[in-house]
Amino acid sequence: MPAAPDPTTVTAALANLNDPETGRPLAETGQLAVTAADAATIAVSLKLTTHSAILWKVTRARAEELLRAAFPTVADVTVTVEPHHRPPSKIGQIGLEAKSVIAVGSGKGGVGKSTIAASIALGLARAGSATGLLDADVYGPSVPHLLGLSGRPQIDEGKIVPMRLPIGGGEMPVMSMGFLVPPGEAVVWRGPMLHGAITQMLRDTRWGPLDYLVIDMPPGTGDIALTLSQVLPLTGAVVVCTPQDVALLDATKAIAMFRKVNIPVLGMVENMAYFVCPDTGKRYDIFGSGGAKRTASELEIPFLGEVPIQIPIREHGDAGTTAANYDDPAARPYLEAICERLVGGIAAAAAAQPPLPSLPVL
Ligand SMILES: Nc1ncnc2c1ncn2[C@@H]1O[C@H](COP(=O)(O)OP(=O)(O)O)[C@@H](O)[C@H]1O
Ligand SMILES: [Mg+2]
Repeated sequence: MPAAPDPTTVTAALANLNDPETGRPLAETGQLAVTAADAATIAVSLKLTTHSAILWKVTRARAEELLRAAFPTVADVTVTVEPHHRPPSKIGQIGLEAKSVIAVGSGKGGVGKSTIAASIALGLARAGSATGLLDADVYGPSVPHLLGLSGRPQIDEGKIVPMRLPIGGGEMPVMSMGFLVPPGEAVVWRGPMLHGAITQMLRDTRWGPLDYLVIDMPPGTGDIALTLSQVLPLTGAVVVCTPQDVALLDATKAIAMFRKVNIPVLGMVENMAYFVCPDTGKRYDIFGSGGAKRTASELEIPFLGEVPIQIPIREHGDAGTTAANYDDPAARPYLEAICERLVGGIAAAAAAQPPLPSLPVL
C-alpha cells in the first residue's frame, strides 16, 4: 500500500534525486521544497543552478516519475524548477571565476575539434549556463570564423574585453588569438611566448563569473595542456576524433598526454561518424564505424556521443553561423546529447569527491 502523501513521505520518495551540479541529493542540500502534499495534489519545487541548466528538463521529469511511482493515486503531480544561486569561486593562480573548465582536444587537425568545442559551448550557453569560449589554438585560430566574429577587443582598465556572441537571451564571451593577430599573418610561437599568450588570454580577459569555460585546444602538442594545467585546475578534457584508425591512434596519444599532465579525460566524441545520403537515406561509414566507442571503452573513458557528417555543419562553419547550426533540428539532438552526457559526467565526478565536512550543530 503506497504511503499517504505528506511532506516527509514526498521528500523520502525523492531521496535519490541528485543535484545535477554537485551530484548530491537535493533533499539533503536544501534544494527541494514540498509546497503541497495531500491525497489530490503533490507540488514540489527543485532549486537548481545554471551550471546544470541543460539537465533541468530531465531532472524535473525524473522527479515526476519518482513521485508518480510512489503515489500512483495522486492525480495532480507538479514539479517546478526554480533557479538556485551558487556563484563560482576563484580558481587557479590567475583567480578565474569559473566552476568548470573544459579543454576540447584531439590528436589530429581537421577532425572537427573547433566545431565540436564551439558547439559544446553554444549548447551549454543556449541551455542557460554562463559559458565562455577560449580559442587556445594559437597556430590556427578558427573560432572567430566559425562564429562569425571579427574586430579587435577593447582594453578597459587593463583587461581585455572579450568579443560577445548573442545567444538566447544573453551573450557568450569569446576570446581568440584570431582577434589579436591580423588574419593571414603567420606567428612563430616559441614555448615561453605560447605560455604567455595562453596565460594572458585566460587571466587578462574580463570573462565575468562563468559556469563553464570551454577551451578549444591546438591539435597534438602537449605544451598548451601543460601550461593550462599549471595555470588553473581543469575539470577535464573532451577528446574529439573520427572513426578512422589513424585518428583513433592520435586520439589515444592525446588521452595519454592529458593523463600525463593530470587532466582528467571527461570523454570522447566521434565526429564525422557516418554520412546519411539526403537523396536516398542510405548510410555510408565514410571513415569506418564505431571505432571511437570501442577505443573509449578500451581506455575506460566515457563515450559522449557521435556527430554524423552533415553538409550544413560545413556550410555553417564556412558562413560563420555555427550558432545557427546548433539550432538546426538535424544537428541539435546529437550536439545536445553530448552536452548532457558531459554535464552529467561532471556531476558524477563531483559526487565522487569526498563530501564537504558537515558543520557542527550548535
Ligand atoms: N560533422 C561534420 N560534418 C560536416 N563537416 C564538418 C563536421 N565537423 C567538422 N566539419 C567541417 O570540417 C572542417 C574542419 O573542422 P574544424 O572544426 O575546423 O576542425 P579542427 O578544429 O579539428 O581542425 C570545417 O570545415 C568544418 O566545418
Ligand atoms: Mg581547430
